[in-house]
Formats: sequence, C-alpha cells, structure tokens
Amino acid sequence: MAVEISKVSKNGSALNIEWSDGEKSNFNFLWLRDNCPTAHDKDSRHRMFNILEVSTNIEPKTYKVNNDGKLEIAWSEGNHTSLYEQEWLRKNCYTINNNKKYVSPYQLWDSSLQENLKFISIEHDEILNSDEGLIKWLELLHYKGIAIVKNTPVEKESAFPVLNRISHTRETFFKTPFEVINVPKPNNSAYTAHALRNHMDLPWFENPPGYQFLHCLINSAEGGNSSAVDAFKVADYLRKNEKEIFETLTNVPLKFRDKDYTQDAHRSFYGTAISLTKDGDYNDIRFSVATMDALDCHPDIMDKVYKAHHRFGNLLHDDQFQIKFRLQPGDIFSFNNRRVLHGRTEFNPSSGYRHLQGYYMDRDEIIGRLSFLKNKL
Ligand SMILES: [Fe+2]
Repeated sequence: MAVEISKVSKNGSALNIEWSDGEKSNFNFLWLRDNCPTAHDKDSRHRMFNILEVSTNIEPKTYKVNNDGKLEIAWSEGNHTSLYEQEWLRKNCYTINNNKKYVSPYQLWDSSLQENLKFISIEHDEILNSDEGLIKWLELLHYKGIAIVKNTPVEKESAFPVLNRISHTRETFFKTPFEVINVPKPNNSAYTAHALRNHMDLPWFENPPGYQFLHCLINSAEGGNSSAVDAFKVADYLRKNEKEIFETLTNVPLKFRDKDYTQDAHRSFYGTAISLTKDGDYNDIRFSVATMDALDCHPDIMDKVYKAHHRFGNLLHDDQFQIKFRLQPGDIFSFNNRRVLHGRTEFNPSSGYRHLQGYYMDRDEIIGRLSFLKNKL
C-alpha cells in the first residue's frame, strides 16, 4: 500500500506532516504556495504564478486531507486554495531527500577496463533500431563516461543518424564534423601525425563540449593507437591518498587559451583542474598540456600549483589508470570530454591512411535524453 499522510500540524512558518511509515516532513508555507499544482502552464510547464504577488507572511487559513486524499490548503491571501497529491509531496519532500545519502551515478574505472572492452561496446544498429540500445549507449556515456560504437558505416558524415538518435551536435569553429587527419600547417596538433598526450578538447571554452565522438573511417597507418583515462578515477585516488595535491587542483584556477593562426579571436578561460558538484561529486576536469596558458598564480603558490599539475599529469598517463586500444574502421569512440581524457600514439603517414571524423555534443543532451527515455519505460 502507498505511504499516506497520517497527521498534519502547523508549526511556525511550515506544516509538519507525519507519514504512515513513520517519516516526517516539514513543508514551508512559501514553498507550498509557490509549488501549487495550478501554478504551472500545462504545455510549457513554466510557472505562471509569481510568488512576489503574495507577502512573505502568507499562511494557511485552513488545512486538511480532503475526501479525495489530497492535502487541501486555503491561503490567507489571494483567495486561493491549493490541492496537493500526497505522492507528489512525498516524492518532492526536501526534508526526507536532504537526509538521503548521495549516491554517485559514476562508475569509476582504471586500466583493468582494458580486459573488458566488450562491456563498453555497443552495436551501431542496436542504437539506431531500438530505445533499449540507445539507453544502453547513454548509460555507458553517463555512468562510465566511455563507449565504443561498433560497425558504423564508414562513409563520411555517416555518424549523424546514430548521433541524432540522442540530439543535435554542438557546433564550434572546427566545424561539424571536424576532420582528424594529417594536414599541412594545421591549426591544432590533432591534425598532425604526432603523438597526443592524454587531454581533453577545448578547455579554453567557458563551457567545453560535454561529449566527444570520434568516428574512425580508416586506420591503416602504422601507429596511431588510442588511449583513454578516467580522470575522475585519478581525482578520486588523489582525494583519498594525496589530499594536499587534491586541494590545490580543486581550488586554484588554471589559465587555458586558444590563439591559433586561423582565428581572429583569442579565447581564454580560468578553471580549476578538478571541479566538484554541490554534493562533492566530480563535475569537470580541465587538463590539457597543449593549451594551458602561461600561468599567472600568486608567486607564493606557483611552486605548489606546478607540482600538483605535474603529479596529476603523471597519474593521467600512468598504466595503472589508462587503457590502450586501436580504433577499427566503423568504431565511434564516444566519451565524456570533461571526464575521460584521450590520446594517441604517433603514426606514420607514409605507411597508410588514418582519418577520424569528430563531433561534439553538450552534456545536457546526453543526461536529458537518458532521463526522458527512462521515465518513458
Ligand atoms: Fe582531442
């Protein structure tokens, strides 16, 4: 049987509710008035009611659980009565929800993932043809931050249909898709045959792309093997074992910049190497040796900042943490760009061809689509 309200009483600026399972809630009057079910437009789901139209002294004139089982409140102002579903009150009870222990959605991984790459692999057609396949891909992206889509067509731009199962892509001046290929006089070190250390893309944006998708069209050159590292896992290691370094990485903003020769804009941003969410979980990583600007921290902390950066960078390339693999034509290496850093070994352009097409997508699109699909189940 569903949990029900067993008692309601007024207490200062809130109603106290006792539930049939013994839990207790405290609902503030202004919060209740603001969240009256009639407050929202049914289509836009925007709040049409304006809390500024009532005073901060508003309170229930009367309150009761009515014959339909709804909490009924007649307000002291505005000649308005609100009716709340018990189930909604329980689900949105901020007293109970604030007492719950936070559970991270992230499944952190280290080099042992390399033995189990099949667990992060998913067939292209499964995603294209079923919501279950799409959910599986989105869950890998959100929870593990990494997935490899297998057997995608290898024609140019043929990753669009499967990406559009999620949402639209994020445009940048590198264009969509961007071509990861060896070119003369490149404006990015990715467009060479050089090795790339583990890095994230575009850390000099205020909001770097949340996800990246590298679609392998051809990979017949010698070298050019891929690497990836879960930087949340490395951050977690530092948090548990090297607290001072962790504190420096979470507290001191570093400076990143892009001023390549093709651009008539110099983009620059300060961000900490590790940022945390309101729950203390991992939010973002900002790490890129190639695009970190000349730091301008206070001289008293420069040594400490550089040593923390050095330690973090070394762990991000440690074989205890990183995985190594080779992309096959038809693979889409998909990952959380602000969590999983990616790199590659040098390749020999005279031995064959290597061509990837890259796409970006905002994190909101991944998490929002997953949330929508799971609610539909
Ligand atoms: Fe990159």
